[in-house]
Amino acid sequence: MSNQDLIRVGILGAKGRMGQWVSNLIKSEFNNVSQLRAEIDQGDPLLRLLDTDVIIDFSLPQAAEALINLALEQSNLLPVFVLGSTGWNQKGLMLVEQLAKKTLVLQSSNFSVGINVMLEFLRKTAPLLKKLGYTPVIKEEHHIQKRDAPSGTAISLQRAINPEHPESVQTHSVRAGQVIGDHSVRFYSNADVFELAHYAQDRSLFARGAIESALWLVRQRQAKQRSVGLVKLEDYFQSLVAEVQ
Ligand SMILES: NC(=O)c1ccc[n+]([C@@H]2O[C@H](COP(=O)([O-])OP(=O)(O)OC[C@H]3O[C@@H](n4cnc5c(N)ncnc54)[C@H](OP(=O)(O)O)[C@@H]3O)[C@@H](O)[C@H]2O)c1
Repeated sequence: MSNQDLIRVGILGAKGRMGQWVSNLIKSEFNNVSQLRAEIDQGDPLLRLLDTDVIIDFSLPQAAEALINLALEQSNLLPVFVLGSTGWNQKGLMLVEQLAKKTLVLQSSNFSVGINVMLEFLRKTAPLLKKLGYTPVIKEEHHIQKRDAPSGTAISLQRAINPEHPESVQTHSVRAGQVIGDHSVRFYSNADVFELAHYAQDRSLFARGAIESALWLVRQRQAKQRSVGLVKLEDYFQSLVAEVQ
């Protein structure tokens, strides 16, 4: 593959815990298909990110919003956006929807396979478990530096369990030590308790998922499969399922 064919990647939040993983992996494992063109942190010019094929964001919603506002002012072709920051408010989410009218946007609170399998399972089984009288309880644990609570993943779990009233699902947050990200959902009846759980062991898990889905999305656009819209991470995982069948 010539240099010209390499997918140009930009990172927002490049020096952060997640951004460093994305940067290292692009330079080591993904350097045969992609190259880093912009590594942006607080104080750096955001405009440089727009001269790429895909932007991977692991910063803060406020930082991503500033970038989206800048992108919405542009008239030329925008990069694909992969948004990994968590803690978005309604206004920010509306901005993401506006962005998705101009380019492809994939937003996920958790890029790990394990959590996405859990979400899929919960979407399918939660209505039945509710009918059978089970009470779901979510517990999430993270390191003390994490700013948002409940975690974006816990909110995704709430939505998978109860799409109409997600906030009604009991959710407990723990902020302690250096926990990368543990999530569990327990289902309680009068006669038993069972649990689904995921324990992140290494942040490369999320970085790899973000990079792989980002490259997949750029290829989708290159193949003219689609050029705008909000894309779900489930679509990416479905494409993998289709590959192995
Ligand atoms: N979706 C997932 O799978 C997943 C997984 C893990 C984490 N996350 C989320 O990803 C985000 C980042 O997590 P992290 O642990 O990497 O946090 P972090 O270590 O605090 O890194 C955040 C980075 O963003 C930068 N930043 C802050 N404000 C900025 C601005 N206005 N403009 C440009 N850059 C700015 C920070 O720079 P300074 O240090 O200079 O402020 C820092 O480099 C969080 O929202 C977290 O919840 C998502």
